[in-house]
Amino acid sequence: MGDTNTRALWGSKIGFLLAAIGSAVGLGNIWRFSYMAFEHGGGAFLVPYLIALIFAGIPLIILEYTLGHREKGSSPLAFARVSHKMEWAGWWMPTVALFGIMLYYSVIIGWCINYFFFSLNLSWGADPQNFFFNTFLQISESPFELGGVRIPILSATFFVWFLCWIICYREVNHGIEKACTIFMPLLFVLTLILVGWTMTLNGAGDAITQLYLKPDWEKINIIKHFNNPDVWAVWVAAFGQIFFTLSLGFGIMITYASYLPEKTDIVGNALWISIINCLYSFIAGFAVFGIVGFMAATKGVPFNEVIKGGPQLAFVVYPEAIRQLPFGQELFGAMFFLVLIVAGLSSGISLIEAFTCSLTDKFSWPRKTVVSSICFLGFLGSIIFTTRAGLFILDITDHFITNYGLIMGGIVECFIVGWLLKASIARQHVNSSGGKQLSPFWDICIRFLTPALLIVLVGQALMGELRNAYGGYTADSLILFGVDWLMVILVISVVFTFYPWKPEMLRKRHSVEGDHLLT
Ligand code: ALA
Repeated sequence: MGDTNTRALWGSKIGFLLAAIGSAVGLGNIWRFSYMAFEHGGGAFLVPYLIALIFAGIPLIILEYTLGHREKGSSPLAFARVSHKMEWAGWWMPTVALFGIMLYYSVIIGWCINYFFFSLNLSWGADPQNFFFNTFLQISESPFELGGVRIPILSATFFVWFLCWIICYREVNHGIEKACTIFMPLLFVLTLILVGWTMTLNGAGDAITQLYLKPDWEKINIIKHFNNPDVWAVWVAAFGQIFFTLSLGFGIMITYASYLPEKTDIVGNALWISIINCLYSFIAGFAVFGIVGFMAATKGVPFNEVIKGGPQLAFVVYPEAIRQLPFGQELFGAMFFLVLIVAGLSSGISLIEAFTCSLTDKFSWPRKTVVSSICFLGFLGSIIFTTRAGLFILDITDHFITNYGLIMGGIVECFIVGWLLKASIARQHVNSSGGKQLSPFWDICIRFLTPALLIVLVGQALMGELRNAYGGYTADSLILFGVDWLMVILVISVVFTFYPWKPEMLRKRHSVEGDHLLT
């Protein structure tokens, strides 16, 4: 795999599309999107979300595909081929994906596996909140009180890493591609059944129209409330969500595009993947908000008395609603958690792949050894999230990694492609690859608009951080599990760059007129 000439390729165009959609559609679409929408103004969240999609999501997904396809490499190799000095940023992305996200992402899939089995006899009983926090997580008082490992969570997390290991062990066309051709149709069918079933429930339509699709404009009116950090927080959350959901800033899309053949439709693929992914989130929102409406109608209370943000949406609100269903409770519950498991796994394998490919590109180690070592070490790294303080640590890590780690990756890649490689040269590559043509407006986005938006948002997020400690956590816990976590990722990224590349890996691959010279 490390050698450009022997690099594996996707078996088919549809195989690539399913793998890329599999990476994009994940836990972020079903549960993260819905609670973000709820917490940030219901339907009004869709406005910053769409703006983030148009001005950051789509330009950046095209950028990542272009870079991976043109340089035929994972993010460290692709960045190093543009400029040696930027190789560290190429490591930053997959390191964020693996150590920043996959370590806790695997644990959430582990929770879903537990809840899949709990659904079969509705183990959460009459008080799902108490069951989730006290029986299942046995949550401690603070992020520092680890309080021992929860064996059911640890076992399920081990199983998740084991499944990922089985899938990633083989080359992408035999492992990830095959898995996604099963996962994705299954996921879409199950989701449609779930949404359809939810919409038949009493009160579901009311929550959709009065909560999900009814905008609270005050929450996003940045012009009127320029000095209000809460309004800025909505915009930061929308951009962070776009990065998370499209798997941007992880190095995944760069890696996946490096397995594409010479002739390919970069723009078409990028548009299909972005649209299907965001449409999936939007449709999944009907299932989540619909169930809230059903609960509110059953209990005869307002929506905001039944909805809860964060992980509670899937693990407290849903179980509570399932318990109240008139029939098929076990089936409904099992289907909901199966949807989360399948969506999570198809994204989890892509988080592992980005790091795997980076190592095989750089060190030419055998793929099987790399995947086995990553899955083993990854499992060990996940253990901290399976402790009784796991939920707190996960919450802090997710906040910092998504809002800073991913967005900063996006800013740096705009600089690399927009200024070092030159956006016009990247566009020339896209337009000569045999697909839809890319307009010069993309150059403006990548060089000016997208990075400017991201810089303003990160700046605002940082200021908000200093004004209000995130989630009411103490400063030392935010520093240890958020800021320090990012620092460790930075150090790992820099350390990898000390090892030299094999000279043939960095040889110039292109002879387009005006192209940069690779050194
Ligand atoms: N894109 C993946 C998700 O949304 C990581 O969960």
